[in-house]
Amino acid sequence: MSSPNDLPQTLMVIGAGQMGSGIAQVAAASGITVLLHDVSASSIQKGLAAITKQLSRSVDKGKLTEERKAEILSRIQPAEQLEQAAQAELVIEAVTEQLELKASLLRRLEEICPPQVIFASNTSSLPITELAAVTGRPSRVIGMHFMNPVPVMPLVEVIRGLETSQDVFEAVRALAMHMGKTPVEVNDFPGFVSNRILMPMINEAVYTVYEGVATAEAVDQVMKLGMNHPMGPLELADFIGLDTCLSIMDILYEGFKDPKYRPCPLLRKYVKAGRLGRKTGQGFYRYD
Ligand code: CAA
Repeated sequence: MSSPNDLPQTLMVIGAGQMGSGIAQVAAASGITVLLHDVSASSIQKGLAAITKQLSRSVDKGKLTEERKAEILSRIQPAEQLEQAAQAELVIEAVTEQLELKASLLRRLEEICPPQVIFASNTSSLPITELAAVTGRPSRVIGMHFMNPVPVMPLVEVIRGLETSQDVFEAVRALAMHMGKTPVEVNDFPGFVSNRILMPMINEAVYTVYEGVATAEAVDQVMKLGMNHPMGPLELADFIGLDTCLSIMDILYEGFKDPKYRPCPLLRKYVKAGRLGRKTGQGFYRYD
C-alpha cells in the first residue's frame, strides 16, 4: 500500500474470535486475501467453522450461491505462525481487550513486518496512541473498530492516534469502504464515540435493575418498544459480553475520573460470578 488509493491485496487478521472471524469474512468477501492467525490451530479452525456456518446460513436463505461461498472461504488462509504477517500489507488485531497483550503483540509485529505495513487495532476502547508508542512506526498505527456482528453492522470507527499519518488514515478509510462499511472518523479518547455513549446506557440499565426500578425484561421492553432499539440494553450487554462491558466502563471511569462512569456493582458481581452473557450461557438472561 504505497498510496492511500492502493487497497491491500493481503491482510492478516489476528484473533479468530467473534470479531476477528467477522472481519476476516467481510475482508475476504471484498476480494482481499486474508491470513487468519490465532494462538492455536484449533482456535483458527473454530473461527473458520464460524465463518463457514455464517456463509452456509446465507446460502440456505438464497442470499449467497455455493460458488460464492467457496470463493470467499478460499481467500481465508489459516496462518499458524505470526511470522506470516510479513506477507501482509496491513494487519488488523482483534485479540482480547488487554493493553499489555496488544502491546506485546505489536512489539512482535514490529520485528516481523516491513516498516510500511499498517497496524490496525479493533480495540473497543484502549488508547491507540499508547499502543502506537510501543512500535517504531506510530504514524502507521490506527484504530479500526468494527461493530458486532461484523457482517451486519455498517459502521467502522476509524480512530486516529496522536501520530497517525493522513496517508494511513485515508488508506484505512478506503479499505473500510471497500469492505462495504461506512467509516466514521473519531479521535483517540476513552471509549471513542461508540462505547462512550453505548456503555453508560447499558450501565444505567444495570443500575435500574440493581435499584429495583424494574426487571431486566421490563427495562429491555421499554427500550425496544419505546425507543425502537433492535435489542434492549441488557440483552445487548449479554450479546457483547458482560466482561467486555465492565472492562470498557472501567476504562471510561479510569480515563475521565468522572463518577458518572462508575460501573454498577451488579455488573461487577455478575462478571465475578462468571455470568458473562451468551458466551457462558447466562448473563441477565439464560441461554440454553
Ligand atoms: N453474525 C452474522 N450475521 C448475523 C448475526 C451474526 N452473529 N446475527 C444475525 N445476523 C444476520 C442474520 O443472518 C440476518 O441476515 P439477513 O437479513 O441477511 O437474513 C440479519 O442479521 C438479521 O438477523 P435476524 O433476523 O436473525 O435477527 P434481528 O433482526 O433481530 O437482527 C441483530 C439481529 C442484527 C444482531 C440486531 O438485533 C441488532 O442490530 N442488534 C444490535 C447490535 C448492536 O448494537 N451491535 C453493536 C454492539 S456494540 C459493539 O460491537 C462495539 C463494542 O465495542 C462492544
